[in-house]
Amino acid sequence: MQIRICSYLLALFSGLAALSVLAGCKSLPPSKAESEWTPEEAQGAQVFHQACAKCHYPTSTHGLHGPGLQAITKIKAMPSGAPPTDERLTAVILHGHGTMPGTTLDDQQMHDLLAYLHTL
Ligand code: HEC
Repeated sequence: MQIRICSYLLALFSGLAALSVLAGCKSLPPSKAESEWTPEEAQGAQVFHQACAKCHYPTSTHGLHGPGLQAITKIKAMPSGAPPTDERLTAVILHGHGTMPGTTLDDQQMHDLLAYLHTL
């Protein structure tokens, strides 16, 4: 009898664990629809396509050369463990990180790119 309760509880818990893993995959907040972008967000998307898209998917968390950037400003920590603040993102973009090269952007391009990253 006791053994049966134990294995029942075990099955229940592993079911719950599996569910929470599944829920975790879907828990990213939604991206802002392209039709709702402001002019600066749309400009930022252009910057992204010129400077970042060859290495990063914007609408997925799957890696290309670097990690996917979906919801990058909404997660607690980026792959490096650093919080995704504008300051940290600016530093990573300008100076690079690990095998990511730095990108030279003027203030306006950086401003627009950050606005775009916040829509992801
Ligand atoms: C040549 C490929 C390449 C380009 C171009 C590139 N990245 Fe990366 N990026 C990477 C790689 C590789 C990593 C992982 C670096 C590491 O931590 O080792 C990365 C990491 C990142 C991270 C995560 C940093 C962290 O702290 O975990 C962000 C955010 C990022 N890139 C944004 C951008 C943006 C925005 C652009 C465009 C301005 C860009 N990247 C351009 C390759 C690239």
